[in-house]
Amino acid sequence: DKGEHKHFMHKEIHEQPASLARVFGSLIDLQKGRLSGDLDKVDFSGVRRVVLVACGTAYYAASVAKYWFEEFADLPVELDVASEFRYRSTPLRDDDMAIFVSQSGETADTLAAVRHVKGRVRAVLAVVNVPTSSIAREADHVLEILAGPEIGVASTKAYVGQLALLAALALKAGKDNGLVGTDAETSLAVAMAALPRLVSETLSLEPMVQQVAATMVSARDTLFLGRGVLAPLAFEAALKLKEISYIHAEGYAAGELKHGPIALIDEHVPVIVFASSGPLFEKTISNVQEVIARGARVTLITDPQGAVLAKGIGDHMLIVPAVREELAPFVHSIVAQLLAYHVAVLKGTDVDQPRNLAKSVTVE
Ligand code: F6R
Repeated sequence: DKGEHKHFMHKEIHEQPASLARVFGSLIDLQKGRLSGDLDKVDFSGVRRVVLVACGTAYYAASVAKYWFEEFADLPVELDVASEFRYRSTPLRDDDMAIFVSQSGETADTLAAVRHVKGRVRAVLAVVNVPTSSIAREADHVLEILAGPEIGVASTKAYVGQLALLAALALKAGKDNGLVGTDAETSLAVAMAALPRLVSETLSLEPMVQQVAATMVSARDTLFLGRGVLAPLAFEAALKLKEISYIHAEGYAAGELKHGPIALIDEHVPVIVFASSGPLFEKTISNVQEVIARGARVTLITDPQGAVLAKGIGDHMLIVPAVREELAPFVHSIVAQLLAYHVAVLKGTDVDQPRNLAKSVTVE
């Protein structure tokens, strides 16, 4: 039932404050300011590497998590899409922790990748939305994102739920290997617990996102840029737009622009930039200046401090709530989802059932 919403995708986007509160509630004991619950069954002590495998949107969630495992736990990460990973001769060791991310838990390539590593690594973790799924059944440990049923073919609340689970898991890894002390654990746990409220604030940007969407409907090509933890977010934003609006969209790490894609830029190519204020901000802004100099129409998505630093650069600015830099993907992803949604609605495509796509991909 879509309730008051025109599409399941819209309903699911708006469910995120609740679904995020649910998953963080299962991972964090707020009274104590500590990780808890399901994470207790996973032990990273002695683990020397994380292997992260998924497809599509789940892969982009895993791509954000690579930054977190490096940042919180100082662990090397082997990251790949399942359809490549399963056919590679990647060395596997018994001190590897293998993590598979899948909303449905039925994606054929991801399931085959699980079978490929089973018994050859420390443990197989399944990060899923469907605990009775094939991938969940074959894993050593199941971690549920608790997003509730996701009907819209384009993943929204499951993606953000995957981010939540993976952020807490990376923090757990840092704790287990002695890198994250009690104070750091509490400070991150508290910051994570505040995300449902910040996501809810971000949702109130919808009318402004709609205005930006209106400027993108007639575009043939679009570019999404980000740096650091927001680079994979840019890839996900591009995927979301292309799958439901059929507009060609590419995501790039902002620093890669000058190595080729800048050749595409002219006034007909909207450029969407995700940037949070922080050490990488200046660098991203100088990339933005490069595209503006080529006539691009730029929308900058940043936080209040970034808005001040950016001094009105670009054609549009969307200001998301301030949040710790590592956790910025949670608020930026909401804008990315709303943007794709409203462009698709304005184009009149079948938002919940885009052409050629299936909710669960059980062919290889
Ligand atoms: C995009 C999307 C797909 C899925 C991919 C993996 O919005 O939904 O890219 O993310 O097919 O599906 P799961 O997570 O079920 O393994």
